[in-house]
Parts: sequence; structure tokens; C-alpha cells
Amino acid sequence: MGQSASIRSAVFPVAGRGTRFLPATKASPKEMLPIVDKPLIQYAVEEALSAGVRNLVFITGSSKRAIEDHFDSDPELESALEAQGKHELLATVRGILPSWASCIYIRQPAPLGLGHAVLCARPVVGHEPFFVHLADDLIDATVPVLQQMAEAYAARQGSYVGVQTVARAETDKYGIVATRDDEGSSARVTRIVEKPKPADAPSTLAVVGRYLLSPTIFDRLESVGRGAGGEIQLTDAIADLLAAESVYAYKFDGKRYDCGSKLGYLEATVEYGLKHPELGDRFSSYLRQLSDQFKG
Ligand code: UTP
Repeated sequence: MGQSASIRSAVFPVAGRGTRFLPATKASPKEMLPIVDKPLIQYAVEEALSAGVRNLVFITGSSKRAIEDHFDSDPELESALEAQGKHELLATVRGILPSWASCIYIRQPAPLGLGHAVLCARPVVGHEPFFVHLADDLIDATVPVLQQMAEAYAARQGSYVGVQTVARAETDKYGIVATRDDEGSSARVTRIVEKPKPADAPSTLAVVGRYLLSPTIFDRLESVGRGAGGEIQLTDAIADLLAAESVYAYKFDGKRYDCGSKLGYLEATVEYGLKHPELGDRFSSYLRQLSDQFKG
């Protein structure tokens, strides 16, 4: 934890409709989709805990009860596992959340956009810097990305957005930043634009789902109004913030999977399956057989 302990809250906006995964997301949230044996939201929470976060703030919408249940204790399940002598599974279930972490659930009344979801966290976050983590951007990293960002913040205060280079043809799927003064992994953001057409994009540095934000963002979110798609856009509020405070683009170390898309989700499933301590070897020989079949 160390230096990173100063960021106490992480906000997890989980109130989106997840339309790209319908019908799987009709009654169950996208963030509960498992990668091998853990739901996306648990990877997200583990990343935040490793960065020293204590307050886990979930911005929820309809059909999100499963997330609350997942992080709640389940005495009936625990006694059943104990009675069956399934001690490892019992430890897994009990270890989902450490006792020192608090889960706070805030309902977003309607899905009015990511910016609106973040604004819903204001009463809990207050006047402190905080993380925003989008669970469907799964990032496999030796040092968890929020921890990397907390360390960058400890060295130089300001707001941070996680970025990665994307193909120019893809800029219209992301917030895109222009930067100057590259310093190692971070660079000062001079402009941020939501989903620019490839020809208009100021760069190919795309914002992905990791943010460390100054609480001033809440005032900007209050005043920004509705942007693209009639939604309150976090990108627009960050663009306003740039005029008053430093915002840095943080080039994180790690491999990102876009688990909000079906292809990205499948890629993550295969690669996490290959790395899984129990399954990796068998899954790898299965994939080799399968690829031989395709060749043959
Ligand atoms: P997405 O753009 O991925 O939208 O939202 P979505 O609804 O989850 O999925 P699709 O595109 O319909 O398949 C980015 C993040 O912002 C959250 C989502 O839960 C997701 O984590 N979000 C979005 C909210 O919490 N509230 C909103 O009003 C909109």
C-alpha cells in the first residue's frame, strides 16, 4: 500500500445497460460476467484494494442486485461448504472482500451517461481525489494499474487518465487526448475529445477505463450539460477541468482486454484460461489440438 494509501475511494460505475451483451445482460449485469471463475467486478475490486482503497463505491442501476450479493457474506453457503469439507472453496468465498473494506451502493436513477454516474458518487467521495474504474476494461498487469497510477500521483499531483495507443481507425470508439511534455509514463493532457472521427483525432492515444480524478471534477460535471448521445460525458467534464488543473495521460504497463465487446471478452477468457493455475496446461493442449484440427 504505502504511498498509494492517500486515495481512499474507488468508484465503479456499473449502471450501464450492457446492450452489446444482450441477452446475457438482460437480468444480470455485464460486470458479473466471469473470466474463467471470477466476475469482472471482482478483478476490478481486487485492483482497487491493491492500490490501498478502502471505500468501494458502486454506482448501480436496475438488474444489479447480483453485485451486492456477490460482495455480501453468505452464511448459508459458507455452512454448506464447511459441512461438505470444501475448505479451499470456503476460503475463496470468505476471501472475496477483506473486512476492512466498505462497500457503498448508490443508485443512478437513469443511465444518463458515465459522467452522470460519477457525479452520483459525490456525497460519498467528498473533497478527496478518487479513482474511477470501469470493470469491463480488464487489464492484466504485474503491478495493478490503479496502483501504478497512485504511485504516479504520489510523485506528481493532478488528475490522471489511463491511456493506450489504438489504431487510427478506432478513434471514434474512445476519448482521445493530445499531450505534451512526456515524462516517462505520463504526459500533460492539452486536449481531450470524445469519439473523434479518425481524420479529426488529435492523436491515437485513447482513454481506457482507469481514472484518478481531483474532486473539482464534480463541479465540472454539474455544469457540463448533456453531450454526445444526450448523455453527461465524463470526457467533457475532463475537458473543462483542463483549463483550471493539471491532467496527465498515464501510459500504463499491462495488457488491456475490452470485455465490453464480445471479441475482447473471448480473448480475455482464452488468455486467462491459459494462465490459470489449475487449468492452464490442459487448456493449452486442448487449444493445440483444436488448432491442429483447423490446419488438418
Ligand atoms: P458503456 O459505454 O460500456 O455502456 O459504459 P454500457 O451500457 O455498459 O454497454 P453497451 O455499450 O450498452 O454494451 C461505460 C461504463 O459506464 C457505465 C457502464 O456500466 C460502464 O461501466 N455507465 C454508463 C453507467 O454506470 N451509467 C451510465 O449511464 C452509462
